[in-house]
Amino acid sequence: MSLDVAAVRAQRPGQPLHWHRQIDSTMRVAEELAEAGSPAGTVVGADEQTAGRGRFGRHWLSAADAGLYVSLVLRPRLSAEEWPLMTLALGLAAAEAVRQTADLAADLRWPNDVLVGGKKCAGILVQWRAQALIAGLGINVNHDAFPPELQATATSLRLAAGRRLSRETLLLHLLEQIERFTNLLEQEGKDTILRLFGQASSYVRGRRVIVDQENQSLHGTTDGLDETGFLWLRQENGQRVKVLAGGVRPA
Ligand code: BTN
Repeated sequence: MSLDVAAVRAQRPGQPLHWHRQIDSTMRVAEELAEAGSPAGTVVGADEQTAGRGRFGRHWLSAADAGLYVSLVLRPRLSAEEWPLMTLALGLAAAEAVRQTADLAADLRWPNDVLVGGKKCAGILVQWRAQALIAGLGINVNHDAFPPELQATATSLRLAAGRRLSRETLLLHLLEQIERFTNLLEQEGKDTILRLFGQASSYVRGRRVIVDQENQSLHGTTDGLDETGFLWLRQENGQRVKVLAGGVRPA
């Protein structure tokens, strides 16, 4: 069933919400809206995406009515060096929305994958466009199964919680939490977000991982975040390197 857009709008009067039954990707529409000058807080969502985009050019499975697929146009009042912290703030917001909606303890895998029971239930794609941040969030909500290639690594809130969940409630919590963590970053600065992320994520320190990058895979143990939110990795040869990008997975 399609998301009850009227119910969501009723809770957020005056806030722009563009909802589509089916679309290629909410990222494309949000980018166009940002370029056309849409205000901060503009939300684009869809019940289904035919070309959902994930990180590293991957496809994001976006089955009809099963998940929450949204992109937000954000215009945070941050200095350029604080921008990467928005990636962590969005992860914190998504994890908190999952907790509020499904009563599940969520873990965060740097930079912003949301995990429950060690499997990914939500992914976040961050892009800068037309002086705006486009935040794309995909949350597996009511999927009752995944294709074989994803079964070992993906889950849904329904599978983890053992009950169906309201996408409307989840969306409202998510938007509220994104606003909360963005305000926190704007008002209190990066240290608060770094501390909260460190507390919420089992991946930040002392975790043996493999970091898959474009041309190589790094093996080592995570060793905290630097002041801009990048991940330190202590490699097996003892060298400490800063991870600016890449997919982190358990070793
Ligand atoms: C990831 O690879 O972990 C990020 C996945 C982001 C998926 C969301 S779904 C809504 C928005 N539209 C897209 O095409 N992608 C993002």
